[in-house]
Amino acid sequence: MAKIFVARALPGDAIERLRAAGHEVTVHGGSMPPTREELTAGVADADGLLSLLTDRVDGELLDSAPQLRAVANLAVGCDNIDLAAAAERGVPVGVAAHVLTDATADLTMALLLAAARNISQGERDAREGRWKTWEPEGWLGLELRGAKLLIIGRGRIGQAVAERATPFGLQISFTGRDDDLHAALAEADIVTLHCPLNEQTRHLIDDAALAAMKPTALLINTTRGGVVDQTALIKALQAGTIAGAALDVTDPEPPPADDPIYDAPNCLIVPHIGSATATTRAAMGNCAADNLIAALAGEPMPTPAPAPPSA
Ligand code: GLV
Repeated sequence: MAKIFVARALPGDAIERLRAAGHEVTVHGGSMPPTREELTAGVADADGLLSLLTDRVDGELLDSAPQLRAVANLAVGCDNIDLAAAAERGVPVGVAAHVLTDATADLTMALLLAAARNISQGERDAREGRWKTWEPEGWLGLELRGAKLLIIGRGRIGQAVAERATPFGLQISFTGRDDDLHAALAEADIVTLHCPLNEQTRHLIDDAALAAMKPTALLINTTRGGVVDQTALIKALQAGTIAGAALDVTDPEPPPADDPIYDAPNCLIVPHIGSATATTRAAMGNCAADNLIAALAGEPMPTPAPAPPSA
């Protein structure tokens, strides 16, 4: 029997499965993440940790958990975990790969359609008395057929977005690590981000990248807020350097109430809901449970995190 600390209550039957596998499971209660102190206390005698993307798992935390033998993150991204520190200490890390591809690609399309057709502004205008009549020139959006969609990142989610965007008649191109990003940005009508956040991609979309985009272009972000320099994005939206943005992720999350991102023009924001379907969240829990059960039995995790950059 191993002790497992789970950083939040989860949908689905992951916790029951961990218990059924004979483990002693402690679940952090409440709807907010554990504080650093609570997380440190939680892992102090734990063999396994089921972490969320809101939990920072670094060398200091790992050092406070001498028995820890496995970390399973309830996310496909793992920028909240210092993978090198975990590798140095021989602690395997797992991620919820594969299972959230469809949900995240669906949400990307929802944001893309909403941004292209002014859904957020239109909804506010309808409710707030600005819908006076059918306006031939009102709320004009972007026609998708023939528009150029640039997908940054060639992974599973980017491919799933391409699959969904194809029937809309979008002209799709991908760009990855070795391509000329600014040249690709200059051609695109819609840019959607599907690369992980790491040292190479932090602020990939900065002042210069935004300046390379068309003034009519839209930016969609469902990966991590840190891939975009948010200050640069706010400036670009204010100046009309680009036409709009739709963000599932921000930096930080959530932005504080007085964050200027809320007042940036044509900027739709939703609260990091890319994987938020009941089916996907339950599958993510199962994925994390599978990773913990395997690692605590001394077996390889079915869906390990990528190797740290230096490994
Ligand atoms: C969600 O953002 C995830 O990485 O799973």
